[in-house]
Amino acid sequence: MSPPDNRTAICPGTFDPITYGHLDVIGRASAMFDLVIIGVVNHPWRKGQTLFTAEERVRFVEKATSDLENITVEPFSTLLVEFARERSAMAIVKGLRAISDFEYELEMNQLNRKQAPDIESVYLMASAKYSFLRSSGVKELATFGGDIDELVPGEVAKALKERLRR
Ligand code: PNS
Repeated sequence: MSPPDNRTAICPGTFDPITYGHLDVIGRASAMFDLVIIGVVNHPWRKGQTLFTAEERVRFVEKATSDLENITVEPFSTLLVEFARERSAMAIVKGLRAISDFEYELEMNQLNRKQAPDIESVYLMASAKYSFLRSSGVKELATFGGDIDELVPGEVAKALKERLRR
């Protein structure tokens, strides 16, 4: 079987906000596929649960990935596999950090595979440097005045400090 001509992948997430851990996975996915679409979750039942609006999260991702030519960023509010299918993506790319991620992703994988057996999920192991890094941890650090400058891009760090100033 020959590979498809145009290999598109979706890299989905809430990105509230984007971290250098996400960017590590995105950069590696960008080297593997012709086009990587970053899908930013914008679901009504998640509204109010995110610190940043979907528009803000999309803007942060766009800014942070502007040096990569084969990346586009879009909000989505449908099932992930529907979004992937609408964009003719052959794969969903996610990062894996720890066993806890594995359990959650295994469940998501079974659900997604049942809906769309033709769309493969690809998991990239987090680089050791970022294996502890998650958006919620960054928000907690920022809330209590911790140093987040090496964890998120400068613009995001600034916005976090402003939004979470106590
Ligand atoms: O961990 P995240 O960043 O909140 O992950 C979000 C996402 C969409 C990647 C994850 O929830 C997932 O894989 N969901 C699959 C089920 C689905 O399609 N949900 C609808 C999202 S709008």
